[in-house]
Amino acid sequence: MEAKPLTIAIDGFSSTGKSTLARQVAAALGYRYVDSGAMYRGVAWYGLERGSIGSDRVVDTARIIADLDDIHLDFETMPEGGSRLHVNGVCAEPAIRSMRVSEVVSQVSSITEVRRKLVEQQQRMGRDGGVVMDGRDIGTVVFPQAELKIYMTADPEVRARRRYDELRAKGEPVRFEEILDNLNTRDRQDLERLDSPLLKAADAIELDNTFLSPDEQFDWVMERVRGLNRG
Ligand code: DC
Repeated sequence: MEAKPLTIAIDGFSSTGKSTLARQVAAALGYRYVDSGAMYRGVAWYGLERGSIGSDRVVDTARIIADLDDIHLDFETMPEGGSRLHVNGVCAEPAIRSMRVSEVVSQVSSITEVRRKLVEQQQRMGRDGGVVMDGRDIGTVVFPQAELKIYMTADPEVRARRRYDELRAKGEPVRFEEILDNLNTRDRQDLERLDSPLLKAADAIELDNTFLSPDEQFDWVMERVRGLNRG
């Protein structure tokens, strides 16, 4: 009998490699991959472009909320299995991955009205299963019924090094200390946020990938998927 399409939730700290893993797993299973963090980044980018977030990083919460109905987020699926976020029909990659956006996105993601809108859209995207979604609250809030929940962690210095290498490879003139600082701040904001903080769901399995290669963690997850399909 054909296995029922699963819902797979991958949550965890910034730069633990959630999206790499989620993309690989989705491609292997023929599932849809959704990067929920990109959606929060899309709202932050829109705010920066519109001036509701100043260059001084001050967020005008009331304006962000008032503009929410004018923000339309879509993913364009790429032939190699990835996806690119579009904001009001305009491709927002790679702008949403820049430090300018990373520095303000935690503040934007702590606004309840923003979360409500994005969670609704995420739930619609995963309504029929066959989805791998990564974020912070996927296993706790978006898909509490997900059959497989993974909670990813890794040593902060190792995460900062990976992020630094990634941004440097893209030509961003970043410093390692700046990346580590931003990561520590975002960890704190993700954990301390009042609405839907980063939290390990009671039925999530923890994956610490400090010493794991992308291939090893992929095998680790696929073994669990096979276990679910057998069961
Ligand atoms: O995964 P990321 O770094 O691209 O996420 C960007 C920001 O959005 C991060 O500060 C946490 C927030 N986020 C969230 O609050 N809930 C999610 N489901 C995904 C991301």
